[in-house]
Amino acid sequence: METERALQKTFKLREFAMSDLRSVTNINHTCLPENYTDFFFIDLYHRFPETFIVAEDNGEAVGYIMCRIETGLSNFGLGGLLKKGHIVSIAVMPDHRRKGIAEAIINTATEKMQTAYNAKQCYLEVRISNEPAIKLYRKLGFEATRTIRGYYADGEDAYMMSKKL
Ligand code: ACO
Ligand code: ZN
Repeated sequence: METERALQKTFKLREFAMSDLRSVTNINHTCLPENYTDFFFIDLYHRFPETFIVAEDNGEAVGYIMCRIETGLSNFGLGGLLKKGHIVSIAVMPDHRRKGIAEAIINTATEKMQTAYNAKQCYLEVRISNEPAIKLYRKLGFEATRTIRGYYADGEDAYMMSKKL
């Protein structure tokens, strides 16, 4: 029940800080095969600090979202250039899943994409086999707008999933 979950909520969201770098790279390595250099994390933090968000549970960093704001064509066909928020990476530690952390992080990030960076759409790529993530994105109103063949290093395809903000 949503009300029960809300009452039991123990996590809090805040902006990434440089002191989170080790925790965030640890979460990334634990949860995903797509890993990045420290420079990549720090660069996105410097450019788009408002949409680099960390979830803390009992004072411990247990999840993150990292985004990039891009200018490009609409993911929904018609229209000229617009700003799009690209969710580059999101993960929540295994012991802290199904508590609504990812949902809260994405909702906060998409809100910031609009208010801080004037983004009109949000999109991401996800492995076509990643059912938990695809269910999460659908729940939040994302739809598959493209399939990208061989997107991942191991050859798996990606869905591009997009949402109007
Ligand atoms: N099975 C089915 N549905 C799920 C699952 C699951 N395992 N996990 C989440 N969902 C859906 C449900 O609809 C859920 O709502 P409900 O709990 O009311 O049913 C909804 O998503 C919200 O779930 P949250 O609790 O907010 O999600 P969580 O905090 O557990 O994080 C995440 C989900 C980020 C996908 C987590 O499982 C994870 O870190 N996975 C490994 C890393 C990963 O795959 N990241 C995404 C890669 S794509 C990218 O980064 C752009
Ligand atoms: Zn991407």
